[in-house]
Amino acid sequence: MDHFLYRDGALFAEDVPVAEIAAAVGTPFYVYSTATLLRHFQAFDEALEEMDHLVCYAMKANSNQAVLRTLAQAGAGMDVVSEGEYRRARAAGVSGDKIVFSGVGKTDREIRVALEGGIRQFNVESEPEMEVLNAVALELGKVAPITIRVNPDVDAKTHEKIATGKSENKFGIPIARAREVYAMAAGLTGLKIVGIDVHIGSQLVDLAPFEQAYRKVAELTEQLRADGHTISRLDLGGGLGIPYERSNEAPPLPSQYGAMVQRVLGHLGCEIEIEPGRLIAGNAGLLVSEVIYVKSGEGRDFLILDAAMNDLIRPAMYEAYHEIVPVIEAAAGSEKQPYDIVGPVCETGDTFAKQRDMVPLVAGDLVAFRSAGAYGAVMASEYNSRPLIPEVMVHGDQFAVIRARPTFDEMINRDTIPEWLEAHSVP
Ligand code: LLP
Repeated sequence: MDHFLYRDGALFAEDVPVAEIAAAVGTPFYVYSTATLLRHFQAFDEALEEMDHLVCYAMKANSNQAVLRTLAQAGAGMDVVSEGEYRRARAAGVSGDKIVFSGVGKTDREIRVALEGGIRQFNVESEPEMEVLNAVALELGKVAPITIRVNPDVDAKTHEKIATGKSENKFGIPIARAREVYAMAAGLTGLKIVGIDVHIGSQLVDLAPFEQAYRKVAELTEQLRADGHTISRLDLGGGLGIPYERSNEAPPLPSQYGAMVQRVLGHLGCEIEIEPGRLIAGNAGLLVSEVIYVKSGEGRDFLILDAAMNDLIRPAMYEAYHEIVPVIEAAAGSEKQPYDIVGPVCETGDTFAKQRDMVPLVAGDLVAFRSAGAYGAVMASEYNSRPLIPEVMVHGDQFAVIRARPTFDEMINRDTIPEWLEAHSVP
């Protein structure tokens, strides 16, 4: 559930009309709902309440400082995958002991920054990484708490670009080799083993692959304990999916996920960490855009929007479905008609939806993409020299710009002209 509902035919973000925000900040823009973010965080927090746990929000989904601060104030930890994310989490007020560091290619420098700044644990993904981590820790006179990410070879049954738990994926250590790698870690004095990490993919709409993976983790926990390791923490990753197409998708709820975790892993007495990103932020955000033109093509009508693939790349990149709704509801009884909904970028891939049934729209109308709070703004680019679009946060009847639209000069002046070109003017 989210807090983007119609009232008297107008779409609201909590208690603010979306059209009012559009008038204030201009389109396109992202808008996030505080109440929805908190609701989703709490759903996970409550789902795991029977167990010692920490919900570490996967901030790659949406790393705006205001989003991070909202969740951190509610008690969330963070899952980071880069120095930039680590610094953002710290800047948002998250303490190091609530930050887990994931990622397959942590650099020496990133490891150093996190070890010096404070970190809950590193989720180590390979032997070479383990060696670098050990060396940096020893050099700094610290002991790095680690889990090792295991790859359980489970088919997450999601889009191939976001599946991570199959043996052919680049992530983690094959679970069959885990005992050997844990033994190696135990011999490195700069490291302290605290648990096991697993993450099998994103936008999973079924609990079965999770359960398959977690059963393997349960078995491994017992083996590793028998080998003499301390396994007190299980990081179960993120990945629980959201309903992008509400009319025919009903992925499991956090409560059902939590009950499964309790059933499969509860007996081990471990602290549970989870890293949800999409489920917390996805349905907490809209992308709002204006129709620039309605163009009649060969046998089809195009809705040309002022938002494009550079603002929301998910449809172009993953063939992702986003519901697109009018900001002002059509009069009762208006017949829907099919549109190809596209952006202004100069490639055919800049298509948000094909033959999507919509109420008739005209230039100047506003539309909202639902489920755009995760992997929307964070994946945006300035392709076609389109400045990054602003982000707005709503809290009850208040709203605030949480990242302003840059000016064209700000965008252009980030480039610098080398001296040898400065010397000559353009004829
Ligand atoms: N933990 C790890 C180690 C991850 O790699 C990810 C996502 C998560 C947690 C959070 O997964 P979530 O709960 O959000 O599903 N850009 C893609 C999604 C990429 C996900 C990458 N890893 C998209 O727009 O669908």
